[in-house]
Amino acid sequence: MSRQVSDEAPDWWRDAVLYHVYVRSFADSDGDGVGDLPGLTGRLDHLSWLGVNAIWLSPTSVSPDADFGYDVSDYRRVQPSLGGDVALDALIATAHERGIRVLLDLVPNHTSVEHSWFVEARAGRGAPRRDWYVWADGRGAAPPNNWLSDFRERGLPRSAWTFDPPSGQWYLSSFLPEQVDLNWRNPAVRDEFFDILASWFARGADGVRVDVAHKLVVDDRLRDNPSLHPDDDPVSRQRGQRQLMNAERPELHDILRSWRRLADSLDPPRLLLGETYVGAVERLAPFYGAGDELQLALNIPFLRTPLTAAAMRTTVDATLAALPPRAWPLWCGSSHDDGHLASRWCGGDQALARCALLLLLTLRGTPLLYYGDEIGMTDVEVPANRRRDRGGRRDPARTPMQWSAQPGGGFTRPGVTPWLPLGDCTRNSVAGQRADPHSTLCLCHDLLAARADRDELRRGEMTWLASPEGVLAWRRGTAHAIAVNLTDGLVEVSGISGRVVVATDGGRAGESLPGRTLLAPRSGLLADLG
Ligand code: GLC
Repeated sequence: MSRQVSDEAPDWWRDAVLYHVYVRSFADSDGDGVGDLPGLTGRLDHLSWLGVNAIWLSPTSVSPDADFGYDVSDYRRVQPSLGGDVALDALIATAHERGIRVLLDLVPNHTSVEHSWFVEARAGRGAPRRDWYVWADGRGAAPPNNWLSDFRERGLPRSAWTFDPPSGQWYLSSFLPEQVDLNWRNPAVRDEFFDILASWFARGADGVRVDVAHKLVVDDRLRDNPSLHPDDDPVSRQRGQRQLMNAERPELHDILRSWRRLADSLDPPRLLLGETYVGAVERLAPFYGAGDELQLALNIPFLRTPLTAAAMRTTVDATLAALPPRAWPLWCGSSHDDGHLASRWCGGDQALARCALLLLLTLRGTPLLYYGDEIGMTDVEVPANRRRDRGGRRDPARTPMQWSAQPGGGFTRPGVTPWLPLGDCTRNSVAGQRADPHSTLCLCHDLLAARADRDELRRGEMTWLASPEGVLAWRRGTAHAIAVNLTDGLVEVSGISGRVVVATDGGRAGESLPGRTLLAPRSGLLADLG
């Protein structure tokens, strides 16, 4: 690993701004309409300029792409259509030269049906790798229990079990039938993944994002899940039942601890960021363990909080209160499963998107941007005949990065049809926003620069300041304050005297604040106090 990244503090991730690249949608270097690793390498200039410290790549292992990389058929090789092994090594080396760390997406809960392990397991009840997966007899003609897949079929709930006619048994498939759940009670599976993880770290990965970390290990007796209660959290309601028997099982923590021991044993230590798709912040805490499991856990309740001052303050406070003392929060408002924050939180309003980004980038914790967030990119409507996602309605969240107004949007060559339709690049693109110092892009750049320059913006305590209804104001450490007006009216905020560092409505940087300041509708600022 190059010096540029290894010289930093071991817990670099507390100071970092992370950036999630959905590789298929970032940059297409070979003109097949699908983004790839050389394309991403070619765009590292943008990420360096923006100031991100680490990128997390959507899955890069070999996959038949039933769920676009989340169905792996070989964990040890890189998907040829993304550029193969050579391209991943080149990306890691180039990113490291620029001081950008690289996190890979590990998908341990399930493999593709095409993985050689499953091909072997499927050969019959006595097959050598049979117990690498979760098999069970049905209840008569019905599946073994009532567990539901996280993916619906034509909008309707589907069993998490798939029938395998030759053996007369059912296999667990918590997502698509082509994604087969591994049996994490089997020590051979644990050993294999420990080795895969070690090999990824040896090749230069600075960490991993652990897909569906909350679902590893299911009940050993395969008991039914209880039905919903009226006061259940939104994630459970979406799943259609309480996932007590096939998610958040206490046994999974043992696995996370073993990976953390491996991550901590290396120099520099590696990062484990988990997809912990749970419905309440209190249930995130266990994933941090006693500082010996995940370093960062995805906060879905925050992502799902509406962008109002009262709701955001409640979720932020609940998160900070719920996490164990040394645990560090992770904040994001967008994902490839849920959509871009400019749409989800802001209904496409750019002024609000700038407020959301100011909030995300100045809370106490590590922010995670999704590609396109930096230009306030919105989800794009995808006509029925161009939909690709079988797991839900997630295509609009995954349309190509809008680089420029050129044909192909700077994503692919002119004349090539991208795998998902491009949004309107004449109205919103990286190139267009680079030219405007008051753009969302330049705001993000300036906020990242402000974070890099000010220790307290990264590590300082967070203290709420009194503010009018609909406004959030807080201090970071002793020397910085942030105020965000999420209302449609002009408001006056008191108690902030100093100088504006960055403001969402351009032109205010450098302004001195006398202790009372007016904030235009849907606007905010970061100030140095004093
Ligand atoms: C995670 C991923 C999602 C994928 C699913 C199954 O939730 O974020 O995109 O479809 O796991 O692997």
